Amino acid sequence: MTSKTTGTHGAVLADTPPERDRPIVELRGAGKAYGNIRALHGVDLAVHPGRVTCVLGDNGAGKSTLIKIISGLHQHTEGEVLVDGEPVRFGTPRDALALGIATVYQDLATVPLMPVWRNFFLGSEMTKGPWPVRRLDIARMKRTADEELRNMGIVLDDLEQPIGTLSGGQRQCVAIARAVYFGARVLILDEPTAALGVKQSGVVLKYVAAARERGLGVIFITHNPHHAYLVGDHFSVLRLGTLELSAARADITLEQLTNHMAGGAELAALKHELAQVGGVDVDALPATDPEIPAPGGAAHDATGSAAAPGSATAAGSAAAPGSATAVDTTGAADSTASAEGKA
Ligand SMILES: Nc1ncnc2c1ncn2[C@@H]1O[C@H](COP(=O)(O)OP(=O)(O)O)[C@@H](O)[C@H]1O
Ligand SMILES: [Mg+2]
Repeated sequence: MTSKTTGTHGAVLADTPPERDRPIVELRGAGKAYGNIRALHGVDLAVHPGRVTCVLGDNGAGKSTLIKIISGLHQHTEGEVLVDGEPVRFGTPRDALALGIATVYQDLATVPLMPVWRNFFLGSEMTKGPWPVRRLDIARMKRTADEELRNMGIVLDDLEQPIGTLSGGQRQCVAIARAVYFGARVLILDEPTAALGVKQSGVVLKYVAAARERGLGVIFITHNPHHAYLVGDHFSVLRLGTLELSAARADITLEQLTNHMAGGAELAALKHELAQVGGVDVDALPATDPEIPAPGGAAHDATGSAAAPGSATAAGSAAAPGSATAVDTTGAADSTASAEGKA
């Protein structure tokens, strides 16, 4: 009934098979200013069918701003956004959805007390019968929801159970299956694993991979390099609103990515400071390697824009001492320490 490119109700999509080499969505030097706050600047990004593009970055790096532009919630104020090679400017999320760009937000728009199948069709219910006596086609909705969830490898005991009784991970999975069913070509996931434990995160990552297998282009937002590396084909790291790294999987190791996220040079500087404070056995701390090679030179070419003066996008990860202002290991979002001048 449904194929991977045609939703039954949702977007009407081209019949042409997805070409892996042509991006569905592309950003060229895109940016966004809120008044005079520049949240995002000079970002290049491509989303290909059948590939997972991971967008990483610390709190405030601009990740949400980036996906709000692609999902039609905000308009870019610089650069270009292209869909299928055509420049677009979305007025509302509906415009993006019409082109097959679906977003699964962290706070999922579900009705907790309604059954799973009902939530699956929320807002796009199947009906039967002619107009004056049209009514919900409950049997067909249940059957379809069951089929679609199974197609994604999601097995739930009972679709009658209220969706609120599912785990956070399962709810994310239902939302992913729903987006696929309604014709999404691009699936945007905003930190789907941020609030989940290890096991549930694994379940969600499995369906991220399943969406890719079905030919969708996935944008996976996370600040966890381990999660990103498990499923990612491409990694873009944002810092203070600009791209500081853009690397294909073949060009970067998990270790390099992790170090990048943790700010290898900044950690090294912090270790140095801690050694002077005393009371910390610095030698017992894990090694930090500030020398992360820029992968194939692609890393910084791809940003297409020079780092703004004063921003912490110092070339490579061997950030010059004095440019690093915050140490923020993944997860420990509040730790802010000045690493200036002491390296
Ligand atoms: N609506 C807004 N108005 C003004 N500034 C904003 C708005 N949304 C985000 N920002 C600012 O833009 C920067 C990037 O934010 P955001 O995209 O939410 O980052 P992330 O999702 O990576 O944590 C932050 O400095 C934030 O304060
Ligand atoms: Mg965010």
